Amino acid sequence: MGKYTELDLDTEIIGKRIFHFDELSSTNNFSRELVEKGAEEGTVVVADEQTMGKGRKERTWYSPRGGLWFSIILYPNFIQTDRSILLTMAASISTAESINALADVEGKIKWPNDVLIGKKKVCGILTEMEADVDEIHHAIIGIGLNVNNELNQDLEEKATTLLKETGRNLSGEDVLRAILGNFEDLYFRLKNRGTRQIKKRWSDLSAIHQKEVLVEKGSKKIQGKVEGIDDRGRLVLRSEAGEHSIMTGDVEIL
Ligand code: BTN
Repeated sequence: MGKYTELDLDTEIIGKRIFHFDELSSTNNFSRELVEKGAEEGTVVVADEQTMGKGRKERTWYSPRGGLWFSIILYPNFIQTDRSILLTMAASISTAESINALADVEGKIKWPNDVLIGKKKVCGILTEMEADVDEIHHAIIGIGLNVNNELNQDLEEKATTLLKETGRNLSGEDVLRAILGNFEDLYFRLKNRGTRQIKKRWSDLSAIHQKEVLVEKGSKKIQGKVEGIDDRGRLVLRSEAGEHSIMTGDVEIL
């Protein structure tokens, strides 16, 4: 326990309870254990260092000291399973808005869940959940933000940190406080069935809005211009063949 437990938040549920560890294997994994023990909605788990940080597609996520590695526990049974991407979007929007305000950078979102500064990734989000066809039982939103940490050699080319971008050490507590506040606002909007704000703020922050992209979905590739996102958080592309709504995939800007 330590610094992150006294954030003095003015949120209603998100971050009301914060677990802070010096070291954990993965904040997502620990959150999963907490869910099994009946943790309250909005519980946050932060670790200064993760020894087995997880990324998307079973990749590892390099998580040394100096970065902000945390997870938020949610029970969003009001969101249908095929709209779960909206939760990830709420997280990427809150992160981008927070770093843009606090570090004066131009963080942009690459759908669905990366935050980039220029062409380099500063934040990744891993949402893990348990759901059946029409209801999400729990969701764990894991956010990894490169703040003051070092990057390893493999990452230097494609990733960046807030320290590198600004030349300043930002306080992890300030960044976390801002993200949790912004996230709660969007989460409550989703709870009230509101997707308008998410769609609008996503378009404002999107690195790919109105751009020509190539989306790789398994063995399928679709090229088109990004028109926006729909009410389910799907990416809407227009190609010569017509309109496509895409739920998941890897996006390359052409
Ligand atoms: C990605 O591949 O872009 C997603 C990276 C997500 C990393 C975060 S760090 C906090 C949380 N705990 C994990 O083990 N992963 C996520």
